[in-house]
Amino acid sequence: MTTDKIALVTGANRGLGRAAAIALATRGLRVVVTHRGDPAGAEKTVKQVQAAGGTATALRLDIRDVDSFPSFTSELSEQLERWGASRLDVLVNNAGVGVFGPLEAVTAEDFDAVMGTNVRGTFFLTQAVAPLLAQGGSVINVSTSLTRHTSPATSVYSASKAAVEALSRTLAGELGARGIRVNSIAPGPTATDFNGGAMRDNAEMRQVLAGQTAFGRVGEPEEIGDAIATLATDGLRWVTAQRIEVSGGAFL
Ligand SMILES: NC(=O)c1ccc[n+]([C@@H]2O[C@H](COP(=O)([O-])OP(=O)(O)OC[C@H]3O[C@@H](n4cnc5c(N)ncnc54)[C@H](OP(=O)(O)O)[C@@H]3O)[C@@H](O)[C@H]2O)c1
Repeated sequence: MTTDKIALVTGANRGLGRAAAIALATRGLRVVVTHRGDPAGAEKTVKQVQAAGGTATALRLDIRDVDSFPSFTSELSEQLERWGASRLDVLVNNAGVGVFGPLEAVTAEDFDAVMGTNVRGTFFLTQAVAPLLAQGGSVINVSTSLTRHTSPATSVYSASKAAVEALSRTLAGELGARGIRVNSIAPGPTATDFNGGAMRDNAEMRQVLAGQTAFGRVGEPEEIGDAIATLATDGLRWVTAQRIEVSGGAFL
């Protein structure tokens, strides 16, 4: 029977999810990483966790496919049993999408994709996984700095993450009775594949975004991963219903 804490990180086949999985593992947690159809990416995350001295495994999960959640939670329970555990300690709702465009350009399909992933997926996955969360557990929902400041052509994405933050605060009240914390981490622009990799690969955009931060640059995935993992630790056990921005001081 393991005494290690166990975390589930959605969308951990790349980007911030991978960085969070590695950061959690370096703090001693076992990690279940999910991917929606990229086993090679998920396996790379598992290997990087192992290289850091940790333990991880990968499961498939499309967070838009709410009907699959009962079979997913069964698979998750079986994995916990294989590790000699019955409970999950940390849920990181990281998987998300952005569709960016001005008012006239956003389609109903774009809108539904963003809301269906970021809001509906996050809510119903939390509902499905909540019975498995241990007393003293932690839910961390990934939001964005864009809920505090505005940027052109980001309305639907920002609104979806504002909803995620509202869900987080309310669910902190509901799950607090079981000692479970619910918080959001709000990253600023970070160099991943997100938005076509613009924050990593588009020099002009990087320069503009850098000029909007106190530290004069965009973030690196490890800086968000470390913040997520730190929020999961007992040192922050009295912190719940909070939005913690990790943006290097964007739009102060
Ligand atoms: N990078 C930034 O500047 C930034 C800033 C603020 C907030 N965020 C948020 O941070 C989170 C991670 O973003 P990232 O930067 O790591 O972007 P990314 O590299 O584009 O990764 C997004 C992740 O979400 C997964 N995903 C998307 N839709 C999914 C679905 N229906 N089911 C399961 N997984 C799904 C992706 O899976 P696939 O590989 O299958 O597509 C991928 O693993 C997102 O919630 C994003 O909104 C990012």
